[in-house]
Amino acid sequence: MRILVLAAHPSIEQSRVNKRWLAELRKHPDQITVQELYATYPDHAIDVENEQNLLAEHDRVVLQFPIQWYSMPALLKQWLDDVVTTSWLFGTGGKAIAGTELVLALSIGGDESSYQSGGLIGYTISELVRPLQVFANQTGMIFLPHYKFYGAIKATDEQIDNSARGYLAHITSPDLNPQIVRKRMLDAMMKASSAQ
Ligand SMILES: Cc1cc2nc3c(=O)[nH]c(=O)nc-3n(C[C@H](O)[C@H](O)[C@H](O)COP(=O)(O)O)c2cc1C
Repeated sequence: MRILVLAAHPSIEQSRVNKRWLAELRKHPDQITVQELYATYPDHAIDVENEQNLLAEHDRVVLQFPIQWYSMPALLKQWLDDVVTTSWLFGTGGKAIAGTELVLALSIGGDESSYQSGGLIGYTISELVRPLQVFANQTGMIFLPHYKFYGAIKATDEQIDNSARGYLAHITSPDLNPQIVRKRMLDAMMKASSAQ
């Protein structure tokens, strides 16, 4: 499984979490391609063909970003608008990214308890990233469970180190796709019933 991580942090030099995460991912260049959008396109002039080729070459795409104003950094939104064009999607018979898995990896300043009904923020992260889920559904991508790191602002170095390892394990796991887990369960049930 080839994994593309599109990382979007507007000020990575000041980052603690996302910077540490990228260092962890870069230990595995054989499996993971890291594309840092703000570093690659400091003038925001995205090389659309290059990005489309990268998408086509990978089985799983990870969008890694800090939650900013309950949303994604601006360059990532621009990347979606510029790269995933309808002409590209339909020009390839609608198969450009159909079947590609999409995972979100999010660093979140606030606490987990804030992100629930009745909490300080009042909405869950899954609710806030709904537009990306619809995007995945409408382009034929497979939306998988996100990786979330709450309390990023006040996290200790040890917590950030642990989160980096957890992040790597999350995005490299084939079992992240519930269909694979379901198929394994069904296969085991079939085997058990045919053995009776
Ligand atoms: C402009 C801006 C907006 C932010 N908005 C939010 C927000 O809406 N919710 C939240 O929990 N944290 C918010 N934060 C905090 C960031 O999510 C947090 O600093 C980041 O995830 C930490 O990761 P880093 O160490 O890689 O920068 C915001 C930070 C900035 C700079």
